[in-house]
Amino acid sequence: MGGSNAGVIPKQKHTGNNILMKKRAGRNRTLTCTSDELSQLSKMLLTLERSVSVHDIDGKIINQDIFEVTKFLPRSFVDLLVLDPPYNLSKNYNGNLFKEREKKEYAEWFERVLSILLPFLKDTATIYVCSDWKTSMIIAPILDNIFHIQNRITWEREKGRGAKKDWKNNTEDIWFCTISKEYYFDVELVKLKKRVIAPYRTTNGKPKDWVESNNGNYRLTHPSNIWTDISVPFWSMPENTDHPTQKPEKLVAKLMLASSKEGDFVFDPFVGSGTTCVVAKKLNRRFCGVELNKEYCCWAQKRLNFAEMDKTIQGYVDGVFWERNTLKEQPKSKKATKIQLKQESLF
Ligand SMILES: C[S@@+](CC[C@H](N)C(=O)[O-])C[C@H]1O[C@@H](n2cnc3c(N)ncnc32)[C@H](O)[C@@H]1O
Repeated sequence: MGGSNAGVIPKQKHTGNNILMKKRAGRNRTLTCTSDELSQLSKMLLTLERSVSVHDIDGKIINQDIFEVTKFLPRSFVDLLVLDPPYNLSKNYNGNLFKEREKKEYAEWFERVLSILLPFLKDTATIYVCSDWKTSMIIAPILDNIFHIQNRITWEREKGRGAKKDWKNNTEDIWFCTISKEYYFDVELVKLKKRVIAPYRTTNGKPKDWVESNNGNYRLTHPSNIWTDISVPFWSMPENTDHPTQKPEKLVAKLMLASSKEGDFVFDPFVGSGTTCVVAKKLNRRFCGVELNKEYCCWAQKRLNFAEMDKTIQGYVDGVFWERNTLKEQPKSKKATKIQLKQESLF
C-alpha cells in the first residue's frame, strides 16, 4: 500500500469542528483521501436497510452505527471477533466525541455491545477485546461472566505521554476469550524470531535450538502474553492513517494467524481505519467491518484496494514474526518491492 507520497494531501485533521491544515514531511506515507477519492470510495461502502446474507457482507465495510446494523446481520457466522471499541476515555473520532463515563455507565454500554454481538458468534468462536488498563478493570468481570477468558495479552506499544506524577502509560491489554473450551489455536504460525544472546552449542559444535545465518543468529521462540515486538503505526509506515487509535497490522496479524484459518469469517464492529479487514484480506480470511465515520470507512476501503496488490505486513516476513528493530536483517520480498514501485508510480 502507498508509495512515498501515496494519496497524501495536506493533512486535514479534524479536532472537533476545527479542520487544521498540516504540512507533511517528504517521507511521510500517511494515507489520506482527496475529496474525489472520498466520493469514489464511499460508493464501495455498504449501508444496510434489510436483512442480508454472509455473502452480501463478505469483504465489505459497512458505514453505519453498529447498534443499527446488527438487526440486519445473519446469525452464527463469525469465527473470530476483533473488538476494539472506544475505551472509557474522552476521544474525538473525527468529529464524533466519545465521552469518558462513570464506570457503571461504561459497563452498561459495553454489556449492550456484547449482547448485540453474541448472536453472530459461532460456538467455536474466539473473541479478542482491546482495552487500556483502566477500562480493563470495568470489562474484565463482564468478559468473565460471558466467555471463557483464556489469557490477557499485554502489548507494550512504545508510545505514551510522560507524566510528572504518574508512570507513563505504555501498554494496552488484549483479552483472549472464547465461547467454549473448543477453540482453534495455532501457535506454530505466531512464533517470534529473536536474536540469540547466548549462542550455546552442542558438544559437537552445532547451534543448540537456534540457527546461524549471514544476517545473524536467531531462534524461533514460543510467543508469550507480553508483546514487545510491535510499535504503533507511525508516519513513515505505509499502513499509517490519521486515525487516533489505529492498531498495527502486525498485532492483528498475530491474533488472526493464531485464532483463525484461511477462509474463516472475521468481524470487526468498530473497524476505524480498517486494520482488521486489511489484515484479513492479506491473510485470505473472509471479513466484514462496521464503522460510524464515513471518512474512516473510506480510508479503510482505500487500504483494502491497495491490499489487492500488496499483501505484505510490516514485521511479518516469509511467514515469520520478527522482533522489533530488525528491518535491516529481514529478508526483502522481491514481490513487495515491485508492488511498492508500481504504487509509487501511481501517485
Ligand atoms: C478504538 S477505534 C478502532 C480502531 C481500529 N481498530 C483501527 O485499527 O483503526 C473505535 C472506532 O469505533 C468507531 N465507533 C464508535 N462508536 C461506534 C458505533 N456506535 N458504531 C460503529 N462504529 C463506532 C469510532 O469512530 C472509532 O473509529
